[in-house]
Amino acid sequence: MSSNDTAYQKCINPECAAEFGCDQAMFKCPKCGELLDIVYNWDKIQTPKKLSDFARRWASRENPLDFSGVWRFRDLLDFCPDQYKVTIGEGQTILQQNDNVATYVNMKPGCLYLQYEGLNPSGSFKDNGMSAAFSHAKMVGAKSCACASTGNTSASMALYAHSCGLKSTVFIGSGRIAFGKLSQAMDYGSQTVQIQGDFDDCMHQVLGVCERLGLYLLNSLNPFRLEGQKTIMFRIIEQLGWELPDWIVVPGGNLGNSSAFGKAFMELKELGLIERVPRMAIINATGADTLTDLVNNKKLKWNNANVDQKIIDDYYADLTVRKFSPHTCASAIEISRPVNLKKCLRTIDICDGVVRAVTDEEICDAKAVIGKFGLGCEPASAASIAGLKHLREEGVIESDCRVACVLTGHMLKDPNVTVNYHKDEQGPFSNPPIEAPNDLEEIIKLIQ
Ligand code: F0G
Repeated sequence: MSSNDTAYQKCINPECAAEFGCDQAMFKCPKCGELLDIVYNWDKIQTPKKLSDFARRWASRENPLDFSGVWRFRDLLDFCPDQYKVTIGEGQTILQQNDNVATYVNMKPGCLYLQYEGLNPSGSFKDNGMSAAFSHAKMVGAKSCACASTGNTSASMALYAHSCGLKSTVFIGSGRIAFGKLSQAMDYGSQTVQIQGDFDDCMHQVLGVCERLGLYLLNSLNPFRLEGQKTIMFRIIEQLGWELPDWIVVPGGNLGNSSAFGKAFMELKELGLIERVPRMAIINATGADTLTDLVNNKKLKWNNANVDQKIIDDYYADLTVRKFSPHTCASAIEISRPVNLKKCLRTIDICDGVVRAVTDEEICDAKAVIGKFGLGCEPASAASIAGLKHLREEGVIESDCRVACVLTGHMLKDPNVTVNYHKDEQGPFSNPPIEAPNDLEEIIKLIQ
């Protein structure tokens, strides 16, 4: 299937609701400047009768689209013909049930699952979104692309761009990116521009650059990226034997994931493929907690798509007056003006969501626990476990709920935070190296 009449782009502002074909590349509504959504004409798409029907695709894994953890669900993101679809083996990620981490957050055995998105080709969940967005970029004939990034978007974009033969430019805040990620952007051949500013400054500049030079934008403002990220939820359901978890816990930065996840559940419900929607917890770092502040303190709501813009404008104006720049060791989520804020509010509405902020100390401790008992992750990812710990202490999440935490990025992305935590004995889970003389007897004494 997959022809242009299966999907279209639509402005999320109900007063505008402008519609555009998927054959156009635009990253904000050209009429009113609001976010765009991909909307499907489900009656023109052959969707499965039940989610477990997707299991059939495992039998034909020699087809790269069936192997891809994104495209094996292609009927649920049917916006481009197969000939344009890009895959480099993304989405071969696992959902690990982890009782040791469950104990740390005071949950019952068998109840906590970790969705390891660090296993993607570039080491983060971004590859799910890039495979979808680069397919769109190919469909519209893009030759050059760009993004602003706290690191993972740039690593993933650089990898897909070189696979697809597109020229790519990344904008990163000087000193605001973990070394693993910076090394990827350079090694994959992206032009790398370090701006003297933070992520929000880079985002502002990249929009100007894309508009002036006609570059294809790969930030999560790009609605096609979010279509790919929906599949993280499909894979969690798949790995639970086509059953739903009770809760999804995810870190929040630019709020692309949370937006995509809510849309995924909204569509599955609309299609009758699920009967209920899991709840969602979105976790900020305290040093970059715009969402938490706006939702929990300023009572900002989706309100049936009529979001109170004045609350947001006043909040951002205050950030500007205070010259506020976010700071957290979880550099991936060091963002104070999240571009997908409104779509995330929609997710909170759909999923009866909650928002919390966790300190850097809590993030580092949770990260060490995940490292000790799981596959490890980068600091931003560990915010999900630190947030779950809060929600368990508050009693918002019960100890016997089935909870899936999304671990968004690989442990090796940010070696500095990890090494410092252990070497400088920053927390209760520090595991510092032992200094030993070059002497067998002394070494044996020390390690016993
Ligand atoms: N976790 C990791 C490892 C990330 O890299 C990001 C975002 C997030 C969580 C937050 O996800 O934006 O969907 O809420 N990184 C972006 C980047 C901003 O540029 O790499 P979100």
